[in-house]
Amino acid sequence: MFAPPRVWWRPLDRLERTWLLLAFAWCLVLFAMMPIWLAFGRHNVPATAYRVSPAQFRQRVEEFAQKYQVGVEKGIPIVEPPPGDVYLLARQWQWYPILKLKKGQSYRLHISSIDVQHGFSIQPLNLNLQILPEYVQVATITPLESGEFSIVCNEFCYLGHHVMVGRILVTD
Ligand code: CUA
Repeated sequence: MFAPPRVWWRPLDRLERTWLLLAFAWCLVLFAMMPIWLAFGRHNVPATAYRVSPAQFRQRVEEFAQKYQVGVEKGIPIVEPPPGDVYLLARQWQWYPILKLKKGQSYRLHISSIDVQHGFSIQPLNLNLQILPEYVQVATITPLESGEFSIVCNEFCYLGHHVMVGRILVTD
């Protein structure tokens, strides 16, 4: 006796149907953007990783820095390597060395930590990598603009985390 009629809801009116379709179409667009952006967006830095002991990595970076050192700033060498493999070491609380790169050239940037986990983040670009001891992240980068770029640590790495700032210089 109290049962509702068989079709008790109000069918969608034209406006509601339109909005639903728009929202659904937008979902499809966003969904499609994921693979499209991955393939064509030049958004993800091609990165690979390999294992190394902290001592080995430290030695490799020291040799690299000595070989291509062109200056020094606050005790940190400024290093100007040729295109190819370049090295960056993270430790409490420093990025070592300061890299001087050439615009338009390609580099394979090997980054690792010799103590705890750090976060590699280039400002003002949005490039972020997790940096762990015993793993080397290799990112292929080609600087497109000259200037001075800051590297900040975006993973809390104890007391000096907030002063862990490094630099990459890009020249024409
Ligand atoms: Cu290194 Cu925070």
